[in-house]
Amino acid sequence: MTKGMSVKQSYSLLKSFQLNELNFARLQYSVTHFVISTLQNYYTDRLFTPSKNFLEEYDDEILGLPNITPNGLFLPKKSTRNAFNDVHRAAASMFNSTGLAKHFSSAHMPISIRLITNKRAGDLDARPRSSTKLHTDIWAGESAATMMLFLPLMGDAANNSISFYEMDSFPVELLRSLTDFKYGGELARKSCQLDVDFNIGELYLADSFILHKTEKKSPKIRLSLEFRLVPKQVLASDGYGSKARESDYVCLDKWFEIGEDLFVYNELPLRDYSYSDKVIDKYAGSAKLIDLRLLDS
Ligand SMILES: [Fe+2]
Repeated sequence: MTKGMSVKQSYSLLKSFQLNELNFARLQYSVTHFVISTLQNYYTDRLFTPSKNFLEEYDDEILGLPNITPNGLFLPKKSTRNAFNDVHRAAASMFNSTGLAKHFSSAHMPISIRLITNKRAGDLDARPRSSTKLHTDIWAGESAATMMLFLPLMGDAANNSISFYEMDSFPVELLRSLTDFKYGGELARKSCQLDVDFNIGELYLADSFILHKTEKKSPKIRLSLEFRLVPKQVLASDGYGSKARESDYVCLDKWFEIGEDLFVYNELPLRDYSYSDKVIDKYAGSAKLIDLRLLDS
């Protein structure tokens, strides 16, 4: 898949690529606008302005927002849907520029914006499926047929990073959804940590079989973008895992139209994210699509 491409860091289950500066700057700008827009819609008596250090300047206010899940997923809401569509459009443009798109048939909708800091830790990290425990996303309900893209966007990615681990073989009995990532503990002990630098502006393409965990070593926020893709080429091992999230994927042609002719939306108001400790395989931030062309007729 990466043959002929300029790969920066290369392992069996993980490759990274340096992004084009213009595409990356556009993505940073759109996510900054999304965060500022969320702040403005929540703290209506304050004025928020984008700046180079807005993550540090507004860190208490950002961490006080009600639309961030325990695993740090920064959810779009009704009042921030325009800004979120701009992020989707910028993400599609960035992905298109990599030349990787021809290898994939569908992509997860919506994309994920992730916020990580050790100011959000403690009880959150003790949850059964905390991303700070070593895991593969197959254990969280993803299909083995998918691949993940991680892109650190801004903030302290060096200390609030993701660490990756590979192993020689994967036991078939663990290729399923697990109620607690601790059940993968023995497997984790047999795996080997990769010497990966997690850098701003570098795009990481990871196989679903890779083990990984979120690192939280700094109070400074790291923001990143993530989305999952289904490759065109199917392998024998791709039949494992859950089908619970299948309905969240759209064909890649359609995914590229989001933020253009298709509008991704979530009707929920900007208020407290509520969750129970019940472990479910569904994605936390499901959203719907409207075809704007149909509204014109
Ligand atoms: Fe994960």
